[in-house]
Amino acid sequence: MADPLPHPLPLSHPALIPAPRRMRGVPSAALYVLDEDTVIEARPGTEGVAHWLRATVGAATSLPLAPADPARPAGPGAGPGAGPGSRIVLGIDAAVGRELGPEGYRLVVDAHAVRVDGGGAAGVFWAAQTLRQLLGPEAFRRAPVTSRRAWTVPPVAVEDAPRFRWRGVLLDVARHFMPKDGVLRYVDLLAAHKLNVLHLHLTDDQGWRVEIERYPRLTETGAWRARTRTGHGASPLWDERPHGGYYTKDDLREIVAYAAGRHVTVVPEIDIPGHSQAAIAAYPELGNTDVIDTTTLSVRDTWGISENVLAPTDTTLAFYENVLAEVLELFPSPFVHIGGDECPKDQWRASPAARARRAAEGLADEDELQGWFVRHFDRWLAGRGRRLIGWDEILEGGLLEGGLSPGAAVSSWRGSAGGVAAARAGHDVVMCPQEQVYLDHRQAPGGDEPVPIGYVRTLEDVYRFEPVPAGLTDAEAGRVLGAQANIWTEVMENQQRVDYQAFPRLAAFAEAVWSDLPPPAVRDYAGFERRMAAAHYARLDALGVDYRPPGGPRPWQRRPGVLGRPIEGAPPIV
Ligand code: ACM
Repeated sequence: MADPLPHPLPLSHPALIPAPRRMRGVPSAALYVLDEDTVIEARPGTEGVAHWLRATVGAATSLPLAPADPARPAGPGAGPGAGPGSRIVLGIDAAVGRELGPEGYRLVVDAHAVRVDGGGAAGVFWAAQTLRQLLGPEAFRRAPVTSRRAWTVPPVAVEDAPRFRWRGVLLDVARHFMPKDGVLRYVDLLAAHKLNVLHLHLTDDQGWRVEIERYPRLTETGAWRARTRTGHGASPLWDERPHGGYYTKDDLREIVAYAAGRHVTVVPEIDIPGHSQAAIAAYPELGNTDVIDTTTLSVRDTWGISENVLAPTDTTLAFYENVLAEVLELFPSPFVHIGGDECPKDQWRASPAARARRAAEGLADEDELQGWFVRHFDRWLAGRGRRLIGWDEILEGGLLEGGLSPGAAVSSWRGSAGGVAAARAGHDVVMCPQEQVYLDHRQAPGGDEPVPIGYVRTLEDVYRFEPVPAGLTDAEAGRVLGAQANIWTEVMENQQRVDYQAFPRLAAFAEAVWSDLPPPAVRDYAGFERRMAAAHYARLDALGVDYRPPGGPRPWQRRPGVLGRPIEGAPPIV
């Protein structure tokens, strides 16, 4: 790429989100035109990106974007038989990889070609996402809405790479099931924002969503509940319709493959030893049978934390090893999330069997019993070449002091303390502090926000989220793999509600984890808002996203009379 280029463009043009590292106008170049004759030259390793461009941009534009004929080089001076000179050239360049990493890319648009050099196939794919943004909001539709046959791209040169390698979103498909098509759609929405990890929260007290062949009752019994609390815990309202659904193994294979084609990794979460009432309802022997009659339990129909947790028995360990063995076959992700959060200990304290386990293992208390559970699966996963990741409670019960294998990682959700402790102890960390990036939390004060939960977390608050906690050394900060926005769905009963809570804040989050804009001074929220207004809301409209408009919810986005659980006062950032 010719560099340095004059005519630097302000980041507000052409309204890329997330903002790239550098972007310049190409001097005296005409607009590049994409038309019927445009071909894609996919060099080795970029065939998947060419396929994606043809399938998405091809559908939006109704242009064939045919493969280039290698025997017919294009461009000025190419001679007789050359192509028309309009082509998209995709390549992987080891030098770009060395400089910008495998997800980095250079993209140069001139009058004849769009040239992409990625550090790896992922970088080429993120460049293709940038190209779609450069084509304008209509490129985000699934079919053309006008008869135009030529699409223009502004002549720019972009150099880009992500700040973090874990740019995640958690979808809680346990509290409210999201049908498979909705998950595929979210994979596309993540990819459109250069987000690359989809953490699927597959099991909880309120539902078990993954088919396990060895234990069919997990889905026969565990995948549905008879009725559902409408609103949060104190709400007197009920939806008396049964709610349920689960993903078959083929559904999950499809989701994983679809995500892989978009350079998104799907991380499965099977929550133990708390948040397990749906599993116990299906297999009562998993619960603390010497404390309560677990045969009377059903899948939980309300919110909050269930007291009904797994029993610390050999039966339970073997059961979950068998479950995880099937999960590992479906998900190639190096990381497997085992939950580990919010495990009430009352049943263990009352259980002779749990006390006997404690004594046999020499454990000081019930926190250490939880640590014993986590350690078992940490070793089990490590023995199979995978890495455990769990909520920051996994640092309790003696595990911080060398109890976890070096590859184990922590999702820091109760503020940043867990992330700081884990990073200092040499573990990798994903930052998802609830005070900042829990997208179930309300987006504005006032009575119009549907089912208001938690703190007020505006678009600007999320935009200003800084993933690396204060006080870490450079080496410790290097342990921060990235960050994750978590979408818990207790009060999101369908896709429209999920969209409303997720967007536009996920666009701001994408910028916080992708764009290399260290805090606080260079985070230009006004510029971000301008880019949102200039193009990104229109892209979300074209994608059919039911986002929260800047002025507040549309009438049908409100939920008058449904109680949430707002937390008043200034939100602490811890
Ligand atoms: C969590 O929000 N309990 C991880």
